[in-house]
Amino acid sequence: MNINGKHYRTVWVSDNGEAVEIIDQTKLPFKFEVVALTTVEMAATAIKEMWVRGAPLIGVLAAYGMALGMKTDTCDENLQRCYSLLIKTRPTAINLKWSLDRTLAILQNTPPAERRKIAWSLAAEIADEDVGLCEKIGQNGADIIRTIAQKKPAGSVVNILTHCNAGWLATVDWGTALSPIYKAHESGINVHVWVDETRPRNQGGLTAFELGSHGVPHTLIADNAGGHLMQHGEVDLCIVGTDRTTATGDVCNKIGTYLKALAAHDNNVPFYVALPSPTIDWTIKDGLKEIPIEQRSGKEQSHVYGINPQGELSWVNTVPEGTRCGNYAFDVTPARYITGLITERGVCAASEAALADMFADLKSNFA
Ligand code: MRU
Repeated sequence: MNINGKHYRTVWVSDNGEAVEIIDQTKLPFKFEVVALTTVEMAATAIKEMWVRGAPLIGVLAAYGMALGMKTDTCDENLQRCYSLLIKTRPTAINLKWSLDRTLAILQNTPPAERRKIAWSLAAEIADEDVGLCEKIGQNGADIIRTIAQKKPAGSVVNILTHCNAGWLATVDWGTALSPIYKAHESGINVHVWVDETRPRNQGGLTAFELGSHGVPHTLIADNAGGHLMQHGEVDLCIVGTDRTTATGDVCNKIGTYLKALAAHDNNVPFYVALPSPTIDWTIKDGLKEIPIEQRSGKEQSHVYGINPQGELSWVNTVPEGTRCGNYAFDVTPARYITGLITERGVCAASEAALADMFADLKSNFA
């Protein structure tokens, strides 16, 4: 997608083929800085410290991390060491494990002398696949927006609420939840997006940055505003992303998603979740019991991070010194509150039967 009219992906290989370049998302939307990652350790730090974030992008960068690890040493021990280093970076998004397991399995069956080359081409393949999956999600989700638009008086706006950043910055390109919005906007549908601020890390700022760069009308709102807007008929549908979806359709996404789903349910607002199939964890059925919820530093809760009038990025404390903070990064929305899952293959119910029907081939790998 575009920044100042120039097309970018969120991750790419440097011109000399020796490094992986990313946009440092901790500096966005204030500063646009590209960082060159040259080692597997740097890739692990980039994921852990959220220089890159978003489930699909984490998975893709992990694959590139393995490729960086193979630059210096392709032996079995190093292969395992790179996997162990990367898998520990963040616990909730399943795309990380999906991508690392796929990479490890292929490299283990590749002679060490060829591992370096195969690791780089595999990472590029996973990145390209992500772009294709997200674009298809966009096409399938735009049909839903179009149907809602057709039911409204001609020329009226379709108001869509989203939470966190599930746009192109969270993937390689297009995004998940925002992809249908980009496609709908491109096709001339009048859309407006309510962008949840998404405390504590304010991923809503990333969403506002993306939508602004593409001319999509939007309004940033406090996390607690969504229920009020739904009660007053100001939200036609919600679309969010997910970090892990169970085989039964429970969805784990950024903290606060569950409360939006409850408010949507109470107000008869359709609540959709957009996801590429690598976000489905076929091994689990109960999202509440089985998905590990990341807990992050209390500083993200006690402070806000932003740019001051001097143009410096800094933290500002908002609570009494010594206040104990709980920073739960994700929550689980049970399948019963979800109107539909927007996937690359189409839209299906959030249920075990519907997922199994749509992805029989993928599910059978875990039988
Ligand atoms: O903690 P983050 O910023 O990595 O969380 C990201 C989200 O929760 C997204 O909604 C999710 O990964 C879906 S992204 C396409």
